Amino acid sequence: MAKIVCTADLFDDEVERLRHAGHTVWLHSGDGQISQEKLIAELADAEALICLLTDRIDQELISAASTLRIIANVAVGYENIDIGAACERGIIVTNTPDVLTEATADLTFALLLGAARRIAEADAAVRRGEFPTWGLDQPLTGSGVFGKTLGIVGMGRIGTAVARRGRRGFGMRVLYHNRTRDAAAEEDLGVEWVPFERLLEESDYVSVHVPLTDETHHLFGRGAFERMKPTAILVNVARGPVVDEAALVGALEAGTIAGAGLDVYEDEPNVHPGLLRLRERVVLTPHLGSATRETRKRMAELAVSNVLAVLSGKEPLTPVA
Ligand code: NAP
Ligand code: GLV
Repeated sequence: MAKIVCTADLFDDEVERLRHAGHTVWLHSGDGQISQEKLIAELADAEALICLLTDRIDQELISAASTLRIIANVAVGYENIDIGAACERGIIVTNTPDVLTEATADLTFALLLGAARRIAEADAAVRRGEFPTWGLDQPLTGSGVFGKTLGIVGMGRIGTAVARRGRRGFGMRVLYHNRTRDAAAEEDLGVEWVPFERLLEESDYVSVHVPLTDETHHLFGRGAFERMKPTAILVNVARGPVVDEAALVGALEAGTIAGAGLDVYEDEPNVHPGLLRLRERVVLTPHLGSATRETRKRMAELAVSNVLAVLSGKEPLTPVA
């Protein structure tokens, strides 16, 4: 039976499913991320790897792992894996789509609302013992969400779930931009495809849901911010490098845009010091998009199911390559 290397802190019952099928499971334990050297050493005789988006599965690692048959990423994004190198070696790569869509869309809306209604600033003020006198123009007055225009860049699984919340929960006009139009979403949800520039110009909230690719790297830079409304709020729950963080700090400081809700950063776990300084209408979370107990369990289950399928000669459930 096969050796399975797992860099993720898998749930006990998922480890048990692998062992019950007769496989040997090697689990990374200890604090922090596994080193590249250790991972390469453990993969020398392994047939499957279950890994996290923080693991760099590059060409060097893939060519050293001569017995590897499947790489199961416990994430929907997979830019941490050199897909070309895996394909060349005939290694199957899988991800965990769908099971995390609603949790990630929930966090997107939490950040949108948090930045718009200044929840983190208000919470901090109350904890400092400040309770501003109720007045018509209070210091913590925010921006309305209901009925406003929401622009979605990347109307895939998560973008569509965010659009549904915007349309059905908050009565918003929803614009979207993809490379290909989504007729089903237009009909079901009444969303409107527009060119990227028009989306930037007309949206009160711009929410990013594209994967990180060469094409989307720094899609949001100075030029994009200059097209946005000065009252607009940017929400990024996709990948940090889709946004040029230095340009975002500049745009927030200059008042080119009004605020941001961010879950992802260009150089995780480091956050641009300029973002840390900005508090007004800026809400930051540490890559928590899919972080609910139920969702993380379903992601682990799906990764394990992919590994079990491939090791028993069946088709993977959710292959990306
Ligand atoms: P998906 O279903 O593949 O959706 C991605 C969408 O982006 C597609 O509709 C695609 O449409 C569009 N797109 C791709 N390239 C584009 C481009 N250059 N310009 C405009 N649109 C483009 O993926 P998903 O499941 O919704 O996930 C989206 C991303 O969210 C993941 O890749 C991951 O990075 C991120 N994510 C983050 C968290 C978190 O914890 N923060 C959690 C889950 C996912 P076209 O191909 O038609 O352009
Ligand atoms: C999380 O960021 C994911 O891609 O699943």
